[in-house]
Amino acid sequence: MSEPFTDIKRSHFCGDLRKEDIDKQVTVMGWVHRRRDHGGVIFVDLRDRRGLLQVAFNPGISRASLDKAHTLRSEYVIAVRGTVAHRPEGTVNPELATGEIEVLADKLIILNKSETPPFEISERKDVSESVCLKYRYLDLRRPSVQKIFFTRHQMYQVIRNFLSNNDFTEIETPFLTKSTPEGARDYLVPSRIEPGSYYALPQSPQLFKQILMLSGFDRYFQIVKCFRDEDLRADRQPEFTQVDMELSFIQEEDIYGILENMMKNVFKEVLSTDIETPFSKLTYQDAMERFGLDSPDTRFPLELKDITSAVKNSSFKVFSQVAEKGGVIKGINVKNRSGLSRKELDDIIELAKIHGAGGLVWIKLTDDGWQSPVAKFLTETEKSDISRIMEAGAGDLLLMVADPSFNTVCNSLGHVRLHLVKRLNLQPSKKFQFTWITEFPLLDYSEEEKRWVAVHHPFTSPVEKDLPLLESDPGKVRARAYDLVLNGSEIGGGSIRIHRQNIQSRIFELLGIGSQEASLKFGFLLDALKYGAPPHGGIALGLDRLIMLMTGAESIRDVIAFPKTQKAACLMSQAPSPVDSRQLRELHIKSTGIKK
Ligand code: AMO
Ligand code: AMP
Repeated sequence: MSEPFTDIKRSHFCGDLRKEDIDKQVTVMGWVHRRRDHGGVIFVDLRDRRGLLQVAFNPGISRASLDKAHTLRSEYVIAVRGTVAHRPEGTVNPELATGEIEVLADKLIILNKSETPPFEISERKDVSESVCLKYRYLDLRRPSVQKIFFTRHQMYQVIRNFLSNNDFTEIETPFLTKSTPEGARDYLVPSRIEPGSYYALPQSPQLFKQILMLSGFDRYFQIVKCFRDEDLRADRQPEFTQVDMELSFIQEEDIYGILENMMKNVFKEVLSTDIETPFSKLTYQDAMERFGLDSPDTRFPLELKDITSAVKNSSFKVFSQVAEKGGVIKGINVKNRSGLSRKELDDIIELAKIHGAGGLVWIKLTDDGWQSPVAKFLTETEKSDISRIMEAGAGDLLLMVADPSFNTVCNSLGHVRLHLVKRLNLQPSKKFQFTWITEFPLLDYSEEEKRWVAVHHPFTSPVEKDLPLLESDPGKVRARAYDLVLNGSEIGGGSIRIHRQNIQSRIFELLGIGSQEASLKFGFLLDALKYGAPPHGGIALGLDRLIMLMTGAESIRDVIAFPKTQKAACLMSQAPSPVDSRQLRELHIKSTGIKK
């Protein structure tokens, strides 16, 4: 039987008691983490948010409490009154912060019982993720899981303090709003009052934060949920949190400076780690050329080298034909790995193909010369040029991809590079490596849609001196956009915005967004731009991703209290779920989808 919770008050958290508290009378409350019956004496590890505490029930102190302690099971909720004492010689547990002491119980109240949980709360990792997510309320009891959320909480405080001290004002923007142009699919909310009309949940507060600059707030921030219906991955959730900001009368360097200082603060306060500032910078073009990806992990060498000039006339047709079409041939030199097995090479070829390459050539530089399916096609000059460009020597393994598309070559080799880092267990040069990626292209030609699309979003400002190229060579126009990359993960992105209406019109024209469509989609921003917009820009950090990297979590789901699966479902609440037909009628919706 559970007992009423009256006339008893907690005096301490379990995890806080130390040997300085010896001889104190204390009252602690929490969950039974473990119970051990030592014939005549019962020990309970009692758990609360601050940690574990050993409670001893022995007949010399209270026979009644000992008898009751016999009925305790895992996860019962109890209150214990007793005296703090030194643990007997030889039973001190140095692993535990409270390991030198125990509480000798003279009173036990069972506040609530628990059914046998589907898994042990004490740290064991042999439970499947779907079970953990279904019973997330139990999973969240694990001390290691809770630790992530205490860290997360601390980050909110450091970030809020920092931004507030730097003249940023925290302002909320609506969730029931219009579609925003971040490029993912929207989550829609039907309107009951206006049949056939829908709100969109914001993919970001982009338009509103720009409006706040037009309204003169100068510096805005918000720690805010964003909603994107996109394919999910280990670092993507359908709803995730941004630290979103926007500033007026600034240039890129101002934003870099503020972000760098903020990160310095966060890492110092939360991890007691000093990070180096200013962060290194790489242009988008250099990031692609050298690392193959626009969010490169620059902690490892293994850079891509362009060998087009060395093999453009090769009798190996894959190379010469690609060069003829204006394509590129690039390679990576995997130092001292000519011993990699055939199976491993096949896996690498497969990986390159998954990422778009037509194939991949390998060359092993052994003491007996060049071993490769293509070695016989290469002349001595070609070999020596390749060696020079790739800084190759005996014992090395060279991997090469040729393709008419620069992006395909980079992307496939970029992923091969990451695979090798993992597979060869290469050690990173630094624990935390931040890099700004700058000078992104403004536009990308979509072969599918046969039109130019904005790489970032349509309010991103072009680089002033590239303006003349807007009509003549749009692909060459650089954007005033930047991403922040940490250890190969994109943790933030932003841009300086267009504040002049004439430039905005030219961009819309290029993107094939007619004035009617523009005014339908973002008319309120365009109207606002007419009334004196200050130069402005901003950035948004993916807070979940940042916390993942700071805590070493493997999945974004680990750092979100109630996350969704890869199928965007919440296993605990069972959302999404069917609704009753009356609700649908009220919303003027006839469903054609049938869930089995
Ligand atoms: P962007 O779309 O680059 O920019 O988003 C900013 C950062 O948010 C994180 N992020 C995500 N994290 C988890 N799950 C997702 N599905 C997800 N999508 C994005 C990334 C990313 O770098 N309004 C602009 C910002 C601006 O221009 O100021 C924006 O939202 O870490
Ligand atoms: P194939 O002519 O397809 O049999 O390919 C001959 C060799 O060239 C194989 O080792 C392929 O993996 C390689 N190869 C094919 N296409 C490419 C490519 N686009 N880039 C690099 N190597 C390739």
